Parts: sequence; C-alpha cells; structure tokens
Amino acid sequence: MAILLHTAAADPRPWGDALAAVIPGLDVRIWPDIGRPEEIDVLLSWLPPEGILKQLPNLKLLQCWGAGIDQLAIADLPAGLPVARIVNADQTAGMVQYVLATVLRYHRQLDVYACQQAERTWKRLPHADARDRKIGVMGLGELGGASAKALAGLGFETSGWARRPKPLPGVATYAGPGQLPAFLKSLDILVCLLPLTRETENLIDARLLALLPKGAKLINASRGKLVVEADLVAALDAGQLGAATLDVAREEPLPEASPLWVHPAITLTPHVSTIVTQRGTIPGIAENIRRLHAGEPLLHLIDRKAGY
Ligand code: GLV
Repeated sequence: MAILLHTAAADPRPWGDALAAVIPGLDVRIWPDIGRPEEIDVLLSWLPPEGILKQLPNLKLLQCWGAGIDQLAIADLPAGLPVARIVNADQTAGMVQYVLATVLRYHRQLDVYACQQAERTWKRLPHADARDRKIGVMGLGELGGASAKALAGLGFETSGWARRPKPLPGVATYAGPGQLPAFLKSLDILVCLLPLTRETENLIDARLLALLPKGAKLINASRGKLVVEADLVAALDAGQLGAATLDVAREEPLPEASPLWVHPAITLTPHVSTIVTQRGTIPGIAENIRRLHAGEPLLHLIDRKAGY
C-alpha cells in the first residue's frame, strides 16, 4: 500500500513528510517517482496527470486537494473509483472570513469611504443596521452553510438558496430553480458559493442579475464559470448591479486584457478566499487513508451524478 502525491507545490516533500508523520510507516511516493505502480492505492492530486489512472491497477481512492472537483472529467474516471474532496475546519473558517470581510466592506461602505479619501472628502454617509441588510447565499454546502450562519450571527437578514431544501437555523432557505426569483428579489448582497456543475455553469447571467433589486452587489468566491462576465459588466454599466467582488474568474490567472481588471465597480482577489494549508488539510487526508486501510467508510466522497 502506497500513496502517490501529485502536487503543484514547489517542494512537495513537506506534504509527504507531514502525512507520514501522522501515519507512521506510510509509504509516500512523490510524482513523478511512482515506483511500482501496482503498490499505489491512493492518489492525492488536484488534477491527475494525463494517463496516470490507467497505470495504477490497484487504486482505491482519488483524494483531491480542493473543495471543488470541477476540474476533473468525472465521466472519464474509472467506474467505481471513490473520489474525495477536501473539507476541513480551517478551510471553512477561511471562507467564512472572506465572506464576512467582503460583505462587511460593502455593508459599512468602506469601498465608498476609500473613494472619498482619495478625494479628501470628509463626509458621513447614512448608516444601515445589519438587520436592515438582506444578504443571500447561493450554495448551502460546507462553505456556504457556514457563511450563511456567520452572516445571520452578525444580525444580517440572511437567506440561502440551494438545489435541494436545506434548513438552516436563522436563515430563510429557498430551493430549486422555481424559488430562485423569490430568493433574489429583495437582496442587497448576493454571495455565490455554489459548486460548478453542468447546472450551475453560466447561472449568473443577465437574466439572473435582472432578478436582483437595482444596485444589489455580488460576491463570487466559488468558480468563475458560474458568471457570464460580459453580462456582469453590462449589468454594472447599466447600474442594475451596484458592485461586484470576484475571487475567481472564467480564466485564471485573469488575462491582462480582461475588462474586469479596470472596472471601477469591481474588486478582484486572486482566488484566495480560502487556501489549502498543510496544517488544516493533512489530518483529514490522513484520516481518509486510515479509514481506507481499516476498511471503514470514507469521508467527503463526491456524488458523481450531482457533479460535486
Ligand atoms: C479551491 O478553489 C478549492 O476548490 O479548494
């Protein structure tokens, strides 16, 4: 039994050492030094190198490095191969921090005050109470659910939307395409934390943005392909959308020629809303490897049909 670690990290060895420290005696191989392929039962990878899966006859788990698995061509994976994604408290905390930081920046108008400062303008703006601010979170999985709860905990009028009904304490929840207009119609800020699937690709388009109240703001911290960028820019230019914070783009790194770089109503961050850290990630991966070797049920397996 051996683990094959495939990562873009400049030096992958500390990751292998950290795993071996949790599971003494673990045989960790670092791509491309795979040794005898038939000994490998776990592949740790964000996106497995071309052709590798066919070379590993005894692979029993593909453990992805990320929360999202949309980079995988699921239909091409060997049938029956369990695929797990990363879920851990540090990653969730990172996303909750990002969502709170970006929502609070708009709520407390720090973006507007920054512009005022640039013009040496000392002017108090009308102050809104959190209870009067309506925030909607699309996607109520690990990251979206925790973010919605944290927003509700700060007193915001919080609602959530998901594919299927997901009750959450303190959060008004909506489900399915039929309830999307009711969810969107009174929001001040829409936070997108949906996984990228066939159903969600291009979901945030001109039609959806038109269902928001005029001047609402968008925060996208999931995947760039959920948003039709030309529709987003058009909605901002028309004032239908008041502002947008994007941590993700359809193409990353964002091409130099993209109009998103210079749009005055867009704030960009380079896909940093939450980061896979060694400290946060290794214990969960080690636990899945332990479970595999002990014949126990694996954690955080993806649903291939749902696509996440
Ligand atoms: C990052 O985007 C992840 O999916 O973990």
